Amino acid sequence: LKVAVLISGAGSNLRAFLETVSESTFPARVVAVGADRDADGLSHATHFEVPTFSVPFRDFASRDEWGAALAAQLRTYAPDLIVLSGLMRLLPQAVVDEFAPRIVNTHPAYLPEFPGAHGVRDALAAGAVETGASVIQVDGGVDSGPILAQERVPVEPGDTEPTLHARIKPVERRLLSDVVRRIATGDLILT
Ligand code: GRF
Repeated sequence: LKVAVLISGAGSNLRAFLETVSESTFPARVVAVGADRDADGLSHATHFEVPTFSVPFRDFASRDEWGAALAAQLRTYAPDLIVLSGLMRLLPQAVVDEFAPRIVNTHPAYLPEFPGAHGVRDALAAGAVETGASVIQVDGGVDSGPILAQERVPVEPGDTEPTLHARIKPVERRLLSDVVRRIATGDLILT
């Protein structure tokens, strides 16, 4: 299964995913990693000799023009699946429509709880005693697509956003690997 990954930030989840797919038995490979800015995480792809591309949002006059440029890059790799792993940008509907239903996203909360760019912070602010991690199918809304996998993660007393996020990320990574493996083996069909 040819997977393209999109990121915006440090790419720690990307790095974990690259390590997983580098295991010879894993039925998928990462064919490209893209970012909506000059993301630090692109260095992880380079380390694994995976092609990278950057389509800086700020270089475009509109979201739609940015999306068209991003889609053009993605198209050249002919991915079977697109994984959003820390992409902090909403994809234009035209991009979702072109690649749907084979776009999945990981989110550091138990959707539909705490959607959006600050799911970890929002769970803490709400005083939640547990939150979670989710892998969903991208439908163009904000973290609103069908839930493919999710798991509860406890909030510990004294948690800060970094400590809670650090507890969530390993769960996100495991759920993502499981979902990609199931898609690759045909156990999970995206419709
Ligand atoms: C991940 O928790 C992802 O789900 C969220 O932002 C974080 C990205 O972290 N959208 P990293 O860039 O993979 O370190």
